[in-house]
Amino acid sequence: MVLRVLSTLASMAASDSKLLGVVVLTRHGDRAGFYQDPKTYAATSTVITPLGAEQEFQLGQRLRSLYLNATSASFIQGINSTFVDQNQIHVRADAGGELGVIYDSAVALLQGLFPATTNYTTDLANGTVVTGALGGYQYVPIESVEPANDVSLEGWTSCAAFDASTAAFYNSIEFAQKKNESAAFLNLLPQFLDGRPVTLENMYNIYDFINVQSIHNEAFAKALPPTFLAQVFTLASWHEYGVFTSGTLGGIGNIPGRAILPQILSELKSIANATDPLKFAYQSISYKPFLSLFNMTGAAQQHPELAEIVPYASALALEVRQPATGGEPVIRLNFKNGTGVDFVTYNFLGGSGDMPLSSLVDHVNPVLINSTSAWCTVCNNTQDRGCGPLAAAAAQASTAASRANVAHHQPISPVGAGFLGAGLALAVVLAMFAVLAFLGLLTVGRGRSKKARTASPSNSNEKP
Ligand SMILES: *[C@@H]1O[C@H](CO)[C@@H](O)[C@H](O)[C@H]1NC(C)=O
Ligand SMILES: *[C@@H]1O[C@H](CO)[C@@H](O)[C@H](O)[C@H]1NC(C)=O
Ligand SMILES: *[C@@H]1O[C@H](CO)[C@@H](O)[C@H](O)[C@H]1NC(C)=O
Repeated sequence: MVLRVLSTLASMAASDSKLLGVVVLTRHGDRAGFYQDPKTYAATSTVITPLGAEQEFQLGQRLRSLYLNATSASFIQGINSTFVDQNQIHVRADAGGELGVIYDSAVALLQGLFPATTNYTTDLANGTVVTGALGGYQYVPIESVEPANDVSLEGWTSCAAFDASTAAFYNSIEFAQKKNESAAFLNLLPQFLDGRPVTLENMYNIYDFINVQSIHNEAFAKALPPTFLAQVFTLASWHEYGVFTSGTLGGIGNIPGRAILPQILSELKSIANATDPLKFAYQSISYKPFLSLFNMTGAAQQHPELAEIVPYASALALEVRQPATGGEPVIRLNFKNGTGVDFVTYNFLGGSGDMPLSSLVDHVNPVLINSTSAWCTVCNNTQDRGCGPLAAAAAQASTAASRANVAHHQPISPVGAGFLGAGLALAVVLAMFAVLAFLGLLTVGRGRSKKARTASPSNSNEKP
């Protein structure tokens, strides 16, 4: 009720602002069971279900009706809604712990976003007209974001500092209090958990198992007391919000947000820049970045219902708008809370309605994790996720620098030695950068030139 009012007010206030484009983040659709280690959040693989594919497809259709329909109030000015223009749309999918689920969700969503059209044809030299496969289906490239060489969509794995922060949360007074409060309820759960550990630490896995069984197992769904699913959801949300947020903007718990924001900001800026063709940027992700992003933008403080695990096929749409009155571009934060409800506009950054893009940038800038090497430093990692070659290059550079110091003892003038030392150090640094660039490690927060994969129904089960 209150939300509806907010939403109406926001659209009235800015009814004649021009929509330049949108950055969309979605959670994957329904999937099979999943387990993640409560200490490290290392995950086991799982698969999307037909229900999940349908949920994402419908989400794609809803996004199309909002943003790619010329009669919609939110039509993106200048976007080609019939044919995919690869300069206007950019898609990335997390290829981490949930493997194909998140990638496949992006495939399904894009099929709803750009449905087959018999106008997708080509005239051949011999006079034949050929329509694309599946009645004119268009393939949108999807960048598969592999955690091994890109930290942006899964900042939290292999991160000792994050694991330490999670352990500290489990040892906190508030965690002990929650344990006391929830003990009586948790004691009722073992009969439903097929031997899984019933501890507050393991709350995400408890919720996930009960949720998946409630959706897919008729006998289980009938046996589970009616309030239990909502109760485990509330506890799991409290748990995950505690793990994936922080009392301070730059705290390690906010690492999912700190790692994904450089990409989001770069896309928002591209959309705001009239000379850049980008209009629709889409990232398919897990629930974790949503928690940090709602915390870091203050949206969860203004709307406590955002401090929860977002349901399957939820979508955050950050609209970039040019106010009719002129001035700088603004952001409107719209969120769709899973299936069955539509997008609602939320306040953020302590304000009301649309906020200047520059305010968002200024707010988060000091805590962004802008590169792999920044991530390696924050997580104190010298071996995983691209940190190994970086650490080796740094070690080589320091060895070379000390050799250069030895050169000072050669019988040449101190001034000459100084030049030699500086020259060697410079050469070493240049060589190091060349090696890093060659290894592709200097391309974090990179542009849209990265090799993309093409989505197609036939490869949708392929594991990225
Ligand atoms: C024209 O070329 C296409 C593609 O090579 C071929 O499938 C088709 O049979 C050709 N049509 C004629 C009339 O030669
Ligand atoms: C972010 O989450 C922490 C809990 O981890 C909370 O203390 C803090 O108030 C939240 N910040 C905002 C702005 O919502
Ligand atoms: C989203 O739906 C869940 C129930 O599925 C509810 O608990 C939560 O408060 C809702 N969040 C928002 C932002 O409406």
